[in-house]
Amino acid sequence: SDSKRLEIQSLCLESLSKIKIGTGPEEKQNGKDFYKYFFTNYPDLRVYFKGAEKYTADDVQKSERFEKQGQRILLAMHLTARVYADEMVFDSYIQETINRHRQFKMEPALWMAFWTVWTGFLATKITLDERHKNAWMTLGQDFAKAANKHLKLLGLPTA
Ligand code: HEM
Repeated sequence: SDSKRLEIQSLCLESLSKIKIGTGPEEKQNGKDFYKYFFTNYPDLRVYFKGAEKYTADDVQKSERFEKQGQRILLAMHLTARVYADEMVFDSYIQETINRHRQFKMEPALWMAFWTVWTGFLATKITLDERHKNAWMTLGQDFAKAANKHLKLLGLPTA
């Protein structure tokens, strides 16, 4: 329902309030920290990042590519949470995200698995209680559902 989605949206936004993005040193570090966490804990997923398949946390720390990419992914998380209650915009944003990832030939199950990575990362930055974690996982389920619907429409493998 609308009120349920609004509640989830506000919990997600609350948990993001300390995950600042922008051009300052702390903001840029937040983005690098996401990929340091990602590549350290899910090294198999580095395969999608051409040229960075062997990157360690140290390599990410020194990388301009991941400084930029870190901002992109964190901005995407802020936007995803921000539009969640508007199903039309949420679904369209997901469709666009799927289109832009098509070139990477990702395993379709990753559209759900991502949210375990994401909440794991969040828990390194803030105290993530069950309520807030569950809010993100519900958003993630809806994300994966919309992603699968779009993959099907494109004639691509679904999860
Ligand atoms: C870019 C992989 C999930 C948003 C990329 C790139 C790769 C990638 C390989 C290119 C970056 C580079 O090589 O330097 C993945 C994988 C995912 C995942 C493996 C799941 C495990 C997501 C999700 C979102 C997202 C859930 C957003 C909701 C972006 C954005 C970019 C990007 C905004 C920048 C390029 C663009 O906007 O087209 N991703 N991605 N990704 N990804 Fe993902």
